[in-house]
Amino acid sequence: MTGRHVLLTPGPVNVGLEVRQALQRTDVGHREPEALAALDRVRAKATTVFGGDSGYDTVVLTGSGTSGLESVISSVIPRGGRLLVLENGRFGRRIAEIAATHRIALTVLSFDWNEAVRPEVLAAALQADSTVTHVAVVHHETSTGLLNPVGLIGAVTAAAGVTLIVDAVSSLGAEPLDIAADHIDWCVSSANKCLESVPGLSLVCAPRARWEALRFVEPTTFSLNLYQHWKAQQIAGEPLFTPAVQLLFALDAALDSLLLEGTPGRAHRYRSISALLRRGLAERNLRMALPDHLRSASVTVCELPESVPFPYFQPAMRKAGFAIYSAPAHLGNACGIATMGQLTADDVLGFLNELDALIATSRTASTRCAVADGSMR
Ligand SMILES: Cc1ncc(COP(=O)(O)O)c(C=O)c1O
Repeated sequence: MTGRHVLLTPGPVNVGLEVRQALQRTDVGHREPEALAALDRVRAKATTVFGGDSGYDTVVLTGSGTSGLESVISSVIPRGGRLLVLENGRFGRRIAEIAATHRIALTVLSFDWNEAVRPEVLAAALQADSTVTHVAVVHHETSTGLLNPVGLIGAVTAAAGVTLIVDAVSSLGAEPLDIAADHIDWCVSSANKCLESVPGLSLVCAPRARWEALRFVEPTTFSLNLYQHWKAQQIAGEPLFTPAVQLLFALDAALDSLLLEGTPGRAHRYRSISALLRRGLAERNLRMALPDHLRSASVTVCELPESVPFPYFQPAMRKAGFAIYSAPAHLGNACGIATMGQLTADDVLGFLNELDALIATSRTASTRCAVADGSMR
């Protein structure tokens, strides 16, 4: 593939030059001073992005966002604990699947996929079941582009004295989130979405007291044992195993750019590009899956015209230089378009032009078919 390939996908995203340049640095061993310093810098900068102060620590894991989530689910819930998962999309379901795999006692509280989690329903559920020790929620349900109210959910869990785990894999860096003010105990993200680095690293942030208390919890995994990772990174100042060392330098550069731009600045940039996209889709009478007030800055799920089925649309768009993902099956002929990463207004306008061309071609083709089979006279 040559030229610019526009990733309208919710990760990986198009990255900036500084990230690309950081990947080209000279070779280095993961226990050499440069690599250890990069690990320290990434941990400190990420903690700031999560909203934590010096009482919080971030651990960097090699692996995708799912491994970050699995490390938390398998390391922080003690035997005898119960996890309540707030589910309103594909990634909420995934958290429940992880917990079930680790045979953790589980309650799933489901909401419609086009409604946000209702904190009062959570409060009632916690009141009705005192065995729940942990609650997990996805901040930004990337499958639909829906934002859940983490601050309000955190107020409920804090009042009930249960531990809150938040999947901020596709929100950190571009949606308002503050681990301290939102009463989040464990927050997980990954490098290759709104942090705008390349895939391969995930991040887990928590108050230091939470990390210290993990020594009393029996983990159910070895390589994802969070206490051991924290001890290695925080106390010994080195990674537990061999990390994706080159990616640390890339994420370090990406975090510098984010701290310069600020989360509100990035949110504003994403929102202006998605506003352009959403206006364009509305002008073409394409219905969006969610009302405006539930939508994130970065993901738009919309119906496609009947004449452009998704299995035809996706490869045609790819040929034109745009990567697009599918939407949840229950939405029928629909697609998810992400405006995350280093995108420009021209990228979105180019996509809309290509969409127009596909609609025009498909109309001509279906008219020809209708005339040929006699259904149009
Ligand atoms: C909200 C959310 N959680 C978890 C994941 C899983 O991340 P990964 O594919 O990096 O394992 C994703 C991926 O898109 C996501 O959007």
